[in-house]
Amino acid sequence: MAGAQEPAARAAWLRQELQRHAHAYYVLDAPTLPDAEYDRLFRELEALEQTAPGLVTPDSPTQRVGAAPSTAFASVAHRVPMLSLNNAFSDDEVVAFDRRVREALGRVEPVAYAVEPKFDGLAVSLTYVDGQLATGATRGDGEAGEDVTANLRTLQSIPLRIDTALPLLEVRGEVLMRRRDFIRMNEAQRARGEREFVNPRNAAAGSLRQLDPAVTAARRLWFYAYGVVAGEADLLPADCHGALMDWLAGLRFPVVPDRAVVAGVDGLLGYFRDIGERRSALPYDIDGVVYKVDALADQQRLGFVSRAPRFALAHKFPAEEALTELVGIDVQVGRTGALTPVARLRPVFVGGVTVTNATLHNEDEVRRKDVRVGDTVVVRRAGDVIPEVARTVPERRPSGTIAFTMPANCPVCGSAVAKPEGEAISRCTGGLFCAAQRKQALLHFASRRAMDIEGLGEKLVDQLVSASASDGAVEPVLELRAPLVRTPADLYRLTVTQVGTLERMAEKSARNLVEAIDVSRRPPLARFVFALGIRNVGETTARDLARHFGTLDALMTAAEPALLQVPDVGPVVAQSIATFFAQPHNREVIDALLAAGVDPQAAAPPPAQAGVGPVAGRTFVLTGTLPGLSRDAARVRIEAAGGKVAGSVSKKTDYVVAGEEAGSKLEKARALGVTVIDEAGLQSLLQQAADGD
Ligand code: IVH
Repeated sequence: MAGAQEPAARAAWLRQELQRHAHAYYVLDAPTLPDAEYDRLFRELEALEQTAPGLVTPDSPTQRVGAAPSTAFASVAHRVPMLSLNNAFSDDEVVAFDRRVREALGRVEPVAYAVEPKFDGLAVSLTYVDGQLATGATRGDGEAGEDVTANLRTLQSIPLRIDTALPLLEVRGEVLMRRRDFIRMNEAQRARGEREFVNPRNAAAGSLRQLDPAVTAARRLWFYAYGVVAGEADLLPADCHGALMDWLAGLRFPVVPDRAVVAGVDGLLGYFRDIGERRSALPYDIDGVVYKVDALADQQRLGFVSRAPRFALAHKFPAEEALTELVGIDVQVGRTGALTPVARLRPVFVGGVTVTNATLHNEDEVRRKDVRVGDTVVVRRAGDVIPEVARTVPERRPSGTIAFTMPANCPVCGSAVAKPEGEAISRCTGGLFCAAQRKQALLHFASRRAMDIEGLGEKLVDQLVSASASDGAVEPVLELRAPLVRTPADLYRLTVTQVGTLERMAEKSARNLVEAIDVSRRPPLARFVFALGIRNVGETTARDLARHFGTLDALMTAAEPALLQVPDVGPVVAQSIATFFAQPHNREVIDALLAAGVDPQAAAPPPAQAGVGPVAGRTFVLTGTLPGLSRDAARVRIEAAGGKVAGSVSKKTDYVVAGEEAGSKLEKARALGVTVIDEAGLQSLLQQAADGD
């Protein structure tokens, strides 16, 4: 640990660590540490060297910009070094940057800044001689990079020839891989048993630095230009960065999208927030935004300090990956009995929040990643996605760790755990005997889109399913008493007095809950079917079933062939419905619900206009993010026009509506020849439907 070592020994250790990781990162394209951890070590070394300059060695990682180019490619010296940017992580640092800029320029009024996303790819430099692409190089160590011209020539977005009178033009920008292509590529790598890449950036780097350009060509890389070498500025038909980008766009370069020109520090921070909110919907990874003084003359006046320009700043988002220790692996039981291993972590700040738990998905995933208690792990939290353990750092594994195995018995109820051959998920076989499954089943039953019982949340359900409630008169004794609620039907027999005995339940709230339960007695059939929690029956299928069969009785008595008549119900779904209704205990619960006065309301017949208009009677599948319409809103509008929204693409699908980041559904649509439309296409169909076309 830091404190235990002499500064000289610590510096030597840091140098060695940083060199090892830099090699893994730049040369092998397989980073071993998250960037934030690398930066932390780097800053620690910098600080040590600052307090004791005698510790600086010529080979210290602080003494150069990147790592040496690999020897596989010819080296190209950059005419003008490829520098890096100074980073800011807080608003204060941005305010300080703007102040420095204004002081240096002697300006009081707000400065105009060109602002752009900061791509998380790799920097390249393209040199055009007499309008022809002559050289394409990676950044390398900033002074010299690798000659990857042949590979860059395979990128469709890079013009091989441009229409300019300039004898020499050097354009700089970023090569990146879109997230969708990254996922696809890793799937293919996995299928072939080849190495997977850690993130899109390393995949882009690995793909560009291929000895065989055909491999690069197959990898779908993108290029975006964000600059022109400063030496040429006076020859260029632009006096500010924004205009320069427009000029590049005119030469048919793909130029950074979402760029803008803003005024002063308020403009900078406003842009940062705006892009931050849209970040997860962008098709590629960005790790922050870049601010550049817009006027090129001012850029020249400001110049450079050591490794970075004074006129620009990278404002970074909080790191999405961080290192921490895995202190335990718990196994959680879900509604259908699925066992999920959950990582208990030493609290760590990542993606802007403190994370203490992260999902490990399932046993196969834990095995594949070989995650063990005691490991140092990389925790990832991107956007609003649930935090996950991305990988371990094998070099930091202590001795004596043991591989994880799923328990043979349910950690909650002790029933046997089953894992069907070929499936990834282990399940508790306890059914409603298992308190965890009971709890989840009840929460699902009561949830807003099911029976919609207001106020029946997690805390309360916890008590209802496990509490050994006394009848209020005597102190609970140390013995196991029957829980108040075992099945959803028990809810409808709860009395105000019983509920009032639970913790933190005043008479008024008890009364409210019993009333809310009472109100839920007449649900539409579709919601009731959804509430039952039948495996593979989501909201849409529940609605289809309700519509098709009309009554609960008809549905319950339908055999598999009858179920298969329902649009979008395939053999797997049909079987799980039939199995569900064949189980005596499920029948008992339903009978008890009906006996308690629950009365599902028959579904309305399909809308009369089915079969006319461009939407009525058609099946839509939504995929990806629609920029202007939430999925719920899109579904409501499609259904209002008599259409249907299905969860998966089949031959019966009429339209796939694809938004940003559309994935496998889009591919399937293409494979099946299903019509694919975008949000605008959907809007126009809806408009036609509304106009009565
Ligand atoms: S301008 C003097 N603009 O960030 C450096 N860089 O830390 C001028 N990057 O290696 C760079 N997006 O690869 C600039 N819109 C953008 C960028 C960007 C990503 C990368 C670039 C560079 C690193 C600097």
